[in-house]
Amino acid sequence: MLIDNWGREITYLRISVTDRCNFRCVYCMPPEGLVWQPHDAIMRYEEIEQVARAAAEQGVRQIRLTGGEPLVRADLPILIRMLADIPGIEDVSLTTNAMLLEKQAEKLAQAGLKRVNVSLDTLNTEKFARITRGGSLVRVLRGIAAAENAGLLPIKINVVAMRGVNDDEFMDLARLTLEHPWHVRFIELMPIGNQQPWGPDFPSPQDAFIPIQEIVEQLKPLGLVSENDAVGYGPAIEYRIPGGIGKLGFISPLSEHQFCQRCNRLRLTADGYLRPCLMSAVEIPILSALRAGQPALPVIKQAVAAKPEGHKLATQAAPDGRRMIQIGG
Ligand code: 5AD
Ligand code: SF4
Repeated sequence: MLIDNWGREITYLRISVTDRCNFRCVYCMPPEGLVWQPHDAIMRYEEIEQVARAAAEQGVRQIRLTGGEPLVRADLPILIRMLADIPGIEDVSLTTNAMLLEKQAEKLAQAGLKRVNVSLDTLNTEKFARITRGGSLVRVLRGIAAAENAGLLPIKINVVAMRGVNDDEFMDLARLTLEHPWHVRFIELMPIGNQQPWGPDFPSPQDAFIPIQEIVEQLKPLGLVSENDAVGYGPAIEYRIPGGIGKLGFISPLSEHQFCQRCNRLRLTADGYLRPCLMSAVEIPILSALRAGQPALPVIKQAVAAKPEGHKLATQAAPDGRRMIQIGG
């Protein structure tokens, strides 16, 4: 088993399959975009599988594929099949912006993908295009529908909460759970690589942060009922609206200290580093080790041993120069 120095068991591996994205969300990328890694710096599927297999042998049961945007990488179903076939892996899921999901949902499900999380910060078409700098809300909604038809359930919708951007829509976004069996999750904006101005129509990034407690307060008129009977699973605090068929979640990496206590994860970046903590700049190179013919396990153990107890982001600025898109969220 992989147990870190604070007694947390590592059972969850987040794998970024690419640093590329077909969107340029304001809280993730500068308007001009980023310089992508060259192809040979990115982990091949066989290399990703090698890391996942070693992790699974040590008790990792859950894998999530992230990006960038994972669906821009060619032949993703092939990787999903490789990962789903690893003994011990019970759950392979995907975080996507859903722009390319409509066409791929069925193939992903057939390859062994269990479920998807979709980023959706607004239900306003024009605002959606502005936040994502080029995304199409209609296509994303069609992508979500395709995922539902393909049985990629439950659908989780990630809403990054931003004051002056989408805080006028929290009620509407929450009400989606009245008619859809979705889990709508509000996420605190993390100050990672996004503290430069977002553009003329946006508030300053420093003003956009909304603490999760304030969102819960704003949604209280909906009659929220707490759902957290099983404590300790995942970072979301869950609620339901009476009569609703979906769930509401609130994820507070910044204002909730419990967030770190329940951390069960390691991250693998697309360019082959294990990142013990999203909020810490420490990264352990694993791709170079694999390409030098060394086994994955010692590097994995090193990364587990390097997991910090927690982060102090609430009182600090961004930890390093790496952006969310380069880490995998
Ligand atoms: N703060 C909070 N959430 C973010 N995401 C991307 N960047 C940030 C940020 N700075 C979200 C995306 C996606 C998930 C992987 O992380 O919207 O849903
Ligand atoms: Fe792409 Fe996700 Fe970053 Fe938006 S937040 S630019 S969809 S990686």
